[in-house]
Amino acid sequence: MTELHLWLRHEARTTERRTPVVPADARRLVAHGVRLTVEESPQRIFPLEEYAAAGCGTAPAGSWVTAPPDAVVLGLKELPGEPPALTHRHISFGHAYKGQPGAADLLRRFAAGGGALLDLEYLVDEHGRRLAAFGFWAGYLGAALTVLRHRGRLTAPLRPTGREELDAALQRAAGDEEFTALVIGALGRSGRGATAALDTAGVTATRWDLAETRDLDRPALLAHDAMVNCVLATAPVPPFLRETDLDDPARRLRTLCDVTCDVGSPLNVLPVYDRTTDWAAPARRLREDPPLDLIAIDNLPSLLPRESSTDFSAALLPELLGFGTSAAWRRCLDRFHQACRELGIDEGRSRHD
Ligand SMILES: NC(=O)c1ccc[n+]([C@@H]2O[C@H](COP(=O)([O-])OP(=O)(O)OC[C@H]3O[C@@H](n4cnc5c(N)ncnc54)[C@H](O)[C@@H]3O)[C@@H](O)[C@H]2O)c1
Repeated sequence: MTELHLWLRHEARTTERRTPVVPADARRLVAHGVRLTVEESPQRIFPLEEYAAAGCGTAPAGSWVTAPPDAVVLGLKELPGEPPALTHRHISFGHAYKGQPGAADLLRRFAAGGGALLDLEYLVDEHGRRLAAFGFWAGYLGAALTVLRHRGRLTAPLRPTGREELDAALQRAAGDEEFTALVIGALGRSGRGATAALDTAGVTATRWDLAETRDLDRPALLAHDAMVNCVLATAPVPPFLRETDLDDPARRLRTLCDVTCDVGSPLNVLPVYDRTTDWAAPARRLREDPPLDLIAIDNLPSLLPRESSTDFSAALLPELLGFGTSAAWRRCLDRFHQACRELGIDEGRSRHD
């Protein structure tokens, strides 16, 4: 078998401090004969020196475009807009299979270059369960920001922090006025994270999952002070909230956090807003009287970059060691080809079948 060459790229988004492989796991990959090149990155939470000390090669930020053709480019979030044709295999979150804005353009770039997207969201076992995910920390942060906003203690811009500091802020807020919180998608990874953060803040969450939303009780939803949406939608369902619900005079809901962030997708269960919020302005007022604030940040785990990267990397490591032989990567590649077919994108003869 040819040696696996992984190329860990710099993340284009300036607030993205996470990495899919931490230096301790880089050392394990190298020990197993994987060649790992790591790009310089000013914002990555782990310095380049730690990777170099682990036996990795180093390269300038963005140099993946000229990486050897068989290198597998590893990253997390969006690729820069250039080059127009993508020739490599890329392991990352593409957010391109649910009709999201820009999805077709990204897949066309892969088709144009003969490259392939191995989307981490679709790296699953034989039962369809995700093998590496940031969900727990997304939910934890989403609920933590909700508590801080609800209690008037959220300051902007947001800055990455560590778990101890975050938990201390939640506990400081615990003595404030009590409120009720609903977590939807509570049985999943982010739902469990959201529940854990609310626990830390001294708030006992109402927990709903599929069984409780099948026949949705919107008045009960609106009777909570805060709501954290953590569902992973795979088929369209009636929206949890509609514009008219926000104007319901009986609405108690004041803080709405959408961890799922499916805005723009046909699967969106919260079609009451049209754009996400961000670290500079984490909350946006949707209604004035009574107030309703939205938090919809699509890179929440990056606010706890060390903890979330370490957990993710530990889950990804065995999959990377099985690259080229495991059925999970085959499923990932098949899903990419399927997505291209569904959009009528002609891949011609793909280099990576
Ligand atoms: N904002 C961010 O930074 C961020 C980061 C990571 C993940 N996410 C997103 O968070 C979402 C959840 O991810 P996860 O890892 O927790 O997924 P998961 O599969 O672990 O859990 C999803 C849960 O949602 C439930 N669910 C699905 N449809 C439902 C419905 N109609 N009603 C009630 N419950 C329903 C499922 O039963 C499951 O328990 C995903 O959309 C993911 O893309 C966001």
